[in-house]
Amino acid sequence: MSNSRPLVAVSAESVLDEIVRIAAAAGCELDCVPDLIAARTRWTRAPLVLVDAAMLSDDDAGQLPKRGGVVLVTDQPLDVVSWEAAYAAGVERVLSLPDAESELVDLLADVAEEPAAGKGTVLGVIGGRGGAGASVFAASVAIAHADEGGDALLVDFDALSGGIDLVLGAEQAAGLRWPDVTVRSGRVSMSALRDALPDVAGGDGRLVVLSCGRSGDGPAPEAAAAVIEAGVRSGYTVVCDLPRELGPAGWQVVDLADLIAVIVPAEVRASASAYRLVERLRHRARRVGLVVRGPSPDALPADAVADVIGGELLTVMRAEPRLASALERGEFRLRRGGPLAGGATDVLAALHDDAKVAA
Ligand SMILES: Nc1ncnc2c1ncn2[C@@H]1O[C@H](COP(=O)(O)OP(=O)(O)O)[C@@H](O)[C@H]1O
Ligand SMILES: [Mg+2]
Repeated sequence: MSNSRPLVAVSAESVLDEIVRIAAAAGCELDCVPDLIAARTRWTRAPLVLVDAAMLSDDDAGQLPKRGGVVLVTDQPLDVVSWEAAYAAGVERVLSLPDAESELVDLLADVAEEPAAGKGTVLGVIGGRGGAGASVFAASVAIAHADEGGDALLVDFDALSGGIDLVLGAEQAAGLRWPDVTVRSGRVSMSALRDALPDVAGGDGRLVVLSCGRSGDGPAPEAAAAVIEAGVRSGYTVVCDLPRELGPAGWQVVDLADLIAVIVPAEVRASASAYRLVERLRHRARRVGLVVRGPSPDALPADAVADVIGGELLTVMRAEPRLASALERGEFRLRRGGPLAGGATDVLAALHDDAKVAA
């Protein structure tokens, strides 16, 4: 039994034969079960579930736990009863063969490409006050992870920020931005994202960026979830730059994140504002931590700031020298040994250590 293979609960032989043939072409091994009783134990953990209408006509179909990524495969038009059963079982997509063969190949190839070793992690970054340095910090964490040889996916959720690609000096980089990225099915493949998005060369690792555009909206919550889940399935560290006013997509990130890092300049007013934000986040986020940064006009100690706000102190950073002018010229680089690089490394350690404990 394997949790990394798609679960196939299909009783029509013609459909099963086609799935087996297509999976072989996609280089994907399957976990085939003869009935829903056998499917039950694997249902929740499989990366993808393929069913057919005959299987869903079973009385037990309504008892299956709800999960995403359930796909009904058919080689015949579905009748009303089958559609109702599909709806009741939480099927999120119906693929009609032979027309949808290439979509099925993509889905299976996507599962096959995912590394067996470990899932990715999700970090949300949010400013304790306006202009706190959240976008710069989010970019720094993603760069630091790629510099260490990891794969990073940096996703911008602040539609009014002008685009995080500007922070990276990558506004000319070819590839899609949020308004042009549409997610139809609730599931998107990381290989398709990687091909479509700007890839900003890091060290040994990869840094893929999904920025907001200069105009247009940010993502819908479903698209946000699909992109984050694609990154997680493929072992990426997904870094999400959040706006302070969290809309539906922002709250979706909070729900999916392993850690939310709140960036707080060491100032009284920033602390007061971060306090309110952390209060709102705490009841929904898995873990909230603070990144306290200089300059501190009145030399406020970082632990005093963390005490006032009431959050876990992840790291303390001095102000990054010459940052404003580097950003202005589009020449921001993460300076080795600098305060931002140190802060980013600390937060990555907090994120990944925690994920190891949870695994
Ligand atoms: N680590 C830092 N050290 C010093 N100045 C910073 C730092 N981070 C951000 N800044 C300053 O704050 C400005 C706003 O940063 P940004 O990341 O866009 O904030 P936010 O996303 O929270 O609105 C930057 O242009 C820069 O001048
Ligand atoms: Mg920002």
